[in-house]
Amino acid sequence: MTAAGLLGLDVGTTAVKGVALSPAGDPLAVAEASYPLRTPRPGWAEQDPEDWWRATQQVLGRLTQSVTEVLAIGFSGQMHGLVCLDEQDRVIRPAILWNDQRTAAECEAIEKAIGLQRLIQLTGNRALPGFTAPKLLWLRSQEPASFARIRHVMLPKDYIRFRLTGERAMDVTDASGTLLLEVAARRWSTEVLEGLELPPSWLPRLLESTEPAGRAPNGSPVAAGAGDQAAAAIGVGIDRPGPLSVVLGTSGVVFAVLRNYAPEPEGRAHTFCHAVPGTWHAMGVMLSAAGSLRWFRDTLAPGLDYEALLAEAAASPAGAGGLLFLPYLAGERTPHVDPAARGTFHGLSLQHDRGALTRSVLEGVAFGLRDCLELLRGLGVGSAVGRASGGGARSKFWLRVVASVLGISLEVSTVEESSALGAAMLGGVAARVFADVPQAVSVCVRLKPGAEPDRDWLPVYEDGYARFRSLYPALRALRPPLVASADGSG
Ligand code: XUL
Repeated sequence: MTAAGLLGLDVGTTAVKGVALSPAGDPLAVAEASYPLRTPRPGWAEQDPEDWWRATQQVLGRLTQSVTEVLAIGFSGQMHGLVCLDEQDRVIRPAILWNDQRTAAECEAIEKAIGLQRLIQLTGNRALPGFTAPKLLWLRSQEPASFARIRHVMLPKDYIRFRLTGERAMDVTDASGTLLLEVAARRWSTEVLEGLELPPSWLPRLLESTEPAGRAPNGSPVAAGAGDQAAAAIGVGIDRPGPLSVVLGTSGVVFAVLRNYAPEPEGRAHTFCHAVPGTWHAMGVMLSAAGSLRWFRDTLAPGLDYEALLAEAAASPAGAGGLLFLPYLAGERTPHVDPAARGTFHGLSLQHDRGALTRSVLEGVAFGLRDCLELLRGLGVGSAVGRASGGGARSKFWLRVVASVLGISLEVSTVEESSALGAAMLGGVAARVFADVPQAVSVCVRLKPGAEPDRDWLPVYEDGYARFRSLYPALRALRPPLVASADGSG
């Protein structure tokens, strides 16, 4: 215990991850506490906010022991999750998460009520099943007793900040994923709220990510913070147009800061506020990136560590002997907006072993990221460099596959937990340790080379990507109508 510290916490899908950082940007400690994800029905994804709070207390306890004084705390978290509180601030039901797919009908109703073009113009997005507003509409029709008790609506990290500080707030990056924010004006949309008949009084006050949002019991200032994608981008130094943030977490993301607010005309990429006040970003989001590899390992190689599994994949040739994997295990958001999409191994033969299957999973996820990148290119994003983070970025081999499929160089941060790091940096700005986000970036972000495209793989992956692109429409036509209704997602 040698220095005062900035603490950053990321309330993730699998765990709360935390870092302590000195004001000179040196990492002092990391901590993590995990919790389960529940799928009470296929396509549903829920967590108990009390689990997040317990994990947060453990992580805060460990990080606090590693510093002489807590200068500030910043939060980041999984986005879009619906936390509803009653008039005594009790959680009404388990939180419905970002990767939950139950709201296809509500999304259709929202696009009809507001008008698709008007919705995209106001909120920067289409109505996507993981977003918050469709979940409120689902609750109104499916669980009216719970709906009638709602007095406050929060997102995961905002609920945890509320438990710590007693203050209700939401930052504009996370609020962008509710479908209730006028993203260009950075304020709640009266038009959408009225159109969906949702009371504005349920929503907390809005803040920029760098603004203070209360104090912890020990008096430390707490920042509003950011959704995990905006925080991860800050954690790898993306505070302006330039390099892309490429995330291989449970979800997979390609993210770029925009020069101006400019929604993708059909709403296929998300346009959100960024964590630098007055700026916006676009991103494509896959629902199962490292989540696909976790599923594969747990199902087909239980007990094997990732290193051994990836070594098997590296022994298989680029293109996995013609094997293709569609990573739509939980439906897909970008580019298909299809909760009923499903995963596939295509092209299996007797020659394929587990290494080939693993390699096709890594490549299929990379092709999904390429879909996201192509949409951003359509918005004028021309970056030739990406900065990778998330659990999957620990693998040099997977990074080389991704760099080759995207055709860009990848750098990585010396601190792996980029969302928690970004959150600590935002805390530092809120507490005036740093003058602004660019200063926090110049002090705290340290990058190292990640991977370069492999020339020998490039032609294989151009061909593989073309086949990947044609596989989803071909399989869509074959989908049995029962699949959609049997899992409640269609
Ligand atoms: C972003 C999204 C996911 C979650 C993962 O729109 O839904 O990246 O934030 O935690």
